[in-house]
Amino acid sequence: MHTTVGIVGAGPAGLLLARLLHRAGIDCVVLESRDRAYVERRQRAGILEQPTVDALREAGAAQGLDARGLVHDGIELRWDRRSHRIDFPSLTGGRRVWVYAQTEVVKDLVALQLDDGPPLVFEATVTSVEGADTDRPVVRYTHRGREERLDCAYVVGCDGFHGVTRAAIPESARRTYDRVYPYSWLGIMADVPPSCDELIYAHSPRGFALHSMRSPEVSRLYLQVPGGTDPADWSDTRIWDELDARFAVDGDWELRRGPITAKSVLPMRSSVTEPMRYGRVLLAGDAAHIVPPTGAKGLNLAVADVVVLARALERLHTTGSADLLDAYSATCLRRVWRAEHFSSFMTTTLHTAPDRSGFDTRLQHAQLDRIADSPHAAAELAQNYAGLPLP
Ligand code: APR
Ligand code: PHB
Repeated sequence: MHTTVGIVGAGPAGLLLARLLHRAGIDCVVLESRDRAYVERRQRAGILEQPTVDALREAGAAQGLDARGLVHDGIELRWDRRSHRIDFPSLTGGRRVWVYAQTEVVKDLVALQLDDGPPLVFEATVTSVEGADTDRPVVRYTHRGREERLDCAYVVGCDGFHGVTRAAIPESARRTYDRVYPYSWLGIMADVPPSCDELIYAHSPRGFALHSMRSPEVSRLYLQVPGGTDPADWSDTRIWDELDARFAVDGDWELRRGPITAKSVLPMRSSVTEPMRYGRVLLAGDAAHIVPPTGAKGLNLAVADVVVLARALERLHTTGSADLLDAYSATCLRRVWRAEHFSSFMTTTLHTAPDRSGFDTRLQHAQLDRIADSPHAAAELAQNYAGLPLP
């Protein structure tokens, strides 16, 4: 098989890139190692920033989002039994965020692609990408027990943090920068209406907690737990009691309890691989960078990468100019490092490190007090959270 752009991975990055290229008249093929049901069920975060929503709308992929997405104009921070609301529109010149699960984004994009898009091959496991520095890179993959090859003009690795495309860039030409945090998140899904209209990020001496949601009937909540935690050690009662303790605030707020339908543990890590392009191989989304989920930036960064990349490939296709493609890595990395900084800031400001000192805790409180007291500090948080404009 051959194509212009071979895309490895059908997460949000690969699927949206395929959609954008298809609309620009550039042919591509998407190879995904898992089956459709797995890809559509994988639980991930659910906050879409303004530029992400704009991109999905432009790609004609926002019908579900516009019908079922929940528009949020702010978040609440809690610490020391106090609460402070960050109002996005007033602090960002009118920006807001949408609560719409990544699983829904993926389902919408898969349906569109199977309906009228370029080929999307499930259960096609890419084993290697070769010839990054040639004119005709090759993707080798296995499908239905057979070894296959896809000859491409360009290959884009949208195969996530554990993907294989990154290895197509010789070790001598790439560098990875990363940080592993000394805690994880225990995430739960519960069949109970959210106890809040907007997300609550809570810092407490017992650890961080987050109240999010999936719909008016389903709550999504997270607790900071030690790395290596087994979800089986957390009974439903223990989870609700701990959430209650961490969200505790002066006033008469109450956390609604309901049946917990899923529990899982997520590691917390920051990582960036540079550069994001080598010859005719490009990386996008989690294949190039990951963030801890505290700033809700993972999906949004993946979308920003593929918007920049689709624009660059379209320019090459229509004018023959590779200038945007040559700038791809530097353009994306600037935004990536901004988001890495913000995600790391949110993580270290709100979590309770196992080796913290009293000094560290007081610095965290001073930072949170500053956000509450200063519109400048609040605006910095709001602008990063609601999403900086695409380049
Ligand atoms: N061959 C084919 N497909 C592969 C391979 C391989 N060798 N390895 C991984 N994949 C597929 C995975 O099965 C997955 O469907 O690549 C896809 C990568 O998708 P994501 O992990 O969702 O990554 P991305 O599209 O970059 O989306 C980033 O996902 O991890 C979250 O928080 C992150 O929200 C962000 C988003
Ligand atoms: C989620 O809804 O899963 C979610 C929301 C905000 C975050 C992380 C996860 O910061």
